[in-house]
Amino acid sequence: MKVMHTAKEMRAWSFEQRGAGKTIGFVPTMGALHEGHISLMRACVERDDVGVLSIFVNPTQFGPNEDLDKYPRTFEADCRIAEDVGMDAVYAPDARTMYPEGYATYVAVERLTDRLCGAARPTHFRGVTTVVAKLFNAVLPDRAYFGQKDAQQAAVIRRMTRDLDFGVEIVELPIVRESDGLAMSSRNKYLSAEERQRASCLSRALFQAQEMLENGEREPKRIIDAVRQGMCEVDIDYVELVDAEEMTPVERVEGTVLLAVAARVGETRLIDNIKFSAKA
Ligand code: PAJ
Repeated sequence: MKVMHTAKEMRAWSFEQRGAGKTIGFVPTMGALHEGHISLMRACVERDDVGVLSIFVNPTQFGPNEDLDKYPRTFEADCRIAEDVGMDAVYAPDARTMYPEGYATYVAVERLTDRLCGAARPTHFRGVTTVVAKLFNAVLPDRAYFGQKDAQQAAVIRRMTRDLDFGVEIVELPIVRESDGLAMSSRNKYLSAEERQRASCLSRALFQAQEMLENGEREPKRIIDAVRQGMCEVDIDYVELVDAEEMTPVERVEGTVLLAVAARVGETRLIDNIKFSAKA
């Protein structure tokens, strides 16, 4: 497996693959790999001729009081996992190379980024779209794989890719969960045993709401109230029921909706969601 650190090297490798007629699959991550990331890499290996994993803890998507410094960094272990899964290359630039002195260009997707995580983290998505645009330009993928775990992020990336004519197919894959339902996340490492137990109320509340939706409930307020009740053990940031592409609140459950939650458990901010498609 080849490990590269600059956009120049990365592009040269990708041009070579494309020249040989190979399709390139891409899985962007911030490392500290777990089964969620692994599910994306497996899908990539299965579908594309060659697979690239990027590992970059992107400073521009962290707010000033967020966990950039303590974010887990496990580069060697991550490379071993990627190789075992069958990825062909790892792209791991450093922050200086990505954002050299004098860096001034940002990509921002409007509207979709105003609500949910964008409300509490006002510069977060601008950082995500900027880094993903840069990664796309280096890796030159045919397809890129994202997790529904970050459903708003996936919707924002889909919009950026479409609006800026990147010509990359965006694949969104289901959330991988622990046995008690907690969505896997690199940030779960921060939780104490007691917090870890309380954290499981996020997915429990969402699964209850899923049942309400399956039983025909279509009134957003009743669903949101039930989820809020189910999450009484944690400090809720938001519970929102929105259109799955536009990220705007729905007045009634119709088409495909996203029920998304964010909460603080101790110092750790966790997110989770479900999607539901109402039959017309
Ligand atoms: P990171 O949090 O490392 O996540 C990388 C990818 O793994 C994302 O697409 C995320 O949705 C997916 N993922 C995380 N946990 C998952 C789970 N439990 N099940 C399924 N997929 C899961 O998201 C980022 O990094 C960054 O914002 C990035 C896109 C790399 C830009 O910096």
